[in-house]
Amino acid sequence: MSTLLIAGATGLVGRETLARALDDPRITHVIAPTRRALPPHAKLTNPIADFEALPLNADWWRCDAVICALGTTRAKAGAAEAFVRVDHDYPLAVARAARAHGAQGFALVSAIGADATSSLL
Ligand SMILES: NC(=O)c1ccc[n+]([C@@H]2O[C@H](COP(=O)([O-])OP(=O)(O)OC[C@H]3O[C@@H](n4cnc5c(N)ncnc54)[C@H](OP(=O)(O)O)[C@@H]3O)[C@@H](O)[C@H]2O)c1
Repeated sequence: MSTLLIAGATGLVGRETLARALDDPRITHVIAPTRRALPPHAKLTNPIADFEALPLNADWWRCDAVICALGTTRAKAGAAEAFVRVDHDYPLAVARAARAHGAQGFALVSAIGADATSSLL
């Protein structure tokens, strides 16, 4: 019995990750906080969340592992700071909240070329 939390489940990568998780018998429960509602599924809990004000003490953070497929582009985000919020700050907040609620693993789908020394933002 294991619970997987997916962040970014409405996106291209996240939607496919969610579909695979819902089909996988090893995963008994999927929690997918999103800002737009997902189609209901018996294994799915879908809290609607504002990532600028995540409810860090909510029970739904309780999980075994996280896959984070949040992401944006600088163009979509509108400014460098907004891009960093979505690509860095939100994943870090999700990791910390899930860890505080028992998560043992965190997989981040990074942007291509993500590296502390990258010349890209
Ligand atoms: N697609 C690829 O081929 C590819 C290749 C390599 C790496 N990646 C990386 O994979 C990650 C996801 O990419 P993707 O192509 O799946 O992106 P995407 O389709 O644009 O999905 C992004 C996800 O992040 C969420 N998100 C964005 N801004 C948000 C905000 N302000 N508040 C809350 N949620 C927000 C979106 O929610 P909404 O639906 O509500 O907007 C969506 O669930 C990125 O880090 C990307 O660099 C993607």
